Amino acid sequence: MEKSSSTPSLRRKLKSAIQKTEGLAEVEELIRAKLTSSAGLLSEIPLYLFNLGGKRIRPLLTLITAKAFNLHPPSPEVIKVSAGIELIHMATLLHDDIIDHSSLRRHQESPLAKYGMVDTLLSGDFLLIRAFGICAHLDPYIIDLTERACVELTEGEILETPLFEYQHDLESALNIAVHKTASLFKLATQCAAYLAGTGSDAIVSLAELGLNLGIAFQILDDILDVTASQEALGKSPGTDLLERKPSIVNVLWLQSGTQLSQTLFSPPCKNSNFVEKALSELRGSEVIKQAKSLAVSYAAKAKENLQAAVQSSLTETNQEALGDLNEIIDFIVERAQ
Ligand code: IPE
Ligand code: IPE
Ligand code: MG
Ligand code: MG
Repeated sequence: MEKSSSTPSLRRKLKSAIQKTEGLAEVEELIRAKLTSSAGLLSEIPLYLFNLGGKRIRPLLTLITAKAFNLHPPSPEVIKVSAGIELIHMATLLHDDIIDHSSLRRHQESPLAKYGMVDTLLSGDFLLIRAFGICAHLDPYIIDLTERACVELTEGEILETPLFEYQHDLESALNIAVHKTASLFKLATQCAAYLAGTGSDAIVSLAELGLNLGIAFQILDDILDVTASQEALGKSPGTDLLERKPSIVNVLWLQSGTQLSQTLFSPPCKNSNFVEKALSELRGSEVIKQAKSLAVSYAAKAKENLQAAVQSSLTETNQEALGDLNEIIDFIVERAQ
């Protein structure tokens, strides 16, 4: 599993949640089985990305949510949903690196840098189709939710126009996070609740949990783009600054009104050391503290959603898995430290 930019104890906790989560090995096996193609590169590129690791946070969330609401051991449907969501996530990473011109992914050369744009793009399409192949055999309720999540995440990516083209504010940046990232987190928790048979009230609360957690996750991703080292991050820090992205950090920085932040309104310039200057202005600044407290507030909402789900669920609950779910919420907001 990859190094992550979190405290050692949190990293250990996530690692132990991963190791003890029953079903994750089966999920990985199903994903591998789906990465085959008679056209060699269509196997090689997705397999390259898969073998680089990643946190596997979305399948983990699906499996642990199902277990917390008494679906244990995981049913074949939960395994399929978990694998499908990770395949969709992998597709978005391939496409996202093309959009963001990213040369590093999961601590290594990105598939884009290694294989080029055309084959990376097609591999992303291939992964989406493989995910739909799994999904198509599931309940129509899950098929509908999956379609909606994929549409939302595509909407999120297309709404993410650079700041020199459109003057985003905090509201539009959060809306983008809801669409591009929280959509899959919500899909994970909502499908798990449905399959566990929690009943409609708890399904709504657990969908909200996924949504709030996904927003917190993206805020931390935006913070880490500024605060983490390349070594810890496994991606190139400063990408959101260089690309003039409407990240949560960038829109808060603009709102703070500093002179340097106004550079975000100009397209990237080749011979500029803007990113280095911006990183040193932002690291340890009030802007990062504001973003952090926003993430903490979404994580707190996620914990409230979990309590509401426990109270309204028609199923028994599993205390150990509920504890793991709370730890995942903590991990997501504390990984910046
Ligand atoms: C990265 O997701 C893309 C975002 C939604 C921010 P992850 O941080 O979950 O990526 P991996 O799977 O661990 O590499
Ligand atoms: C991407 O968000 C979200 C996706 C849908 C993949 P980012 O652009 O912030 O993801 P990273 O930082 O490249 O992983
Ligand atoms: Mg990106
Ligand atoms: Mg990012």
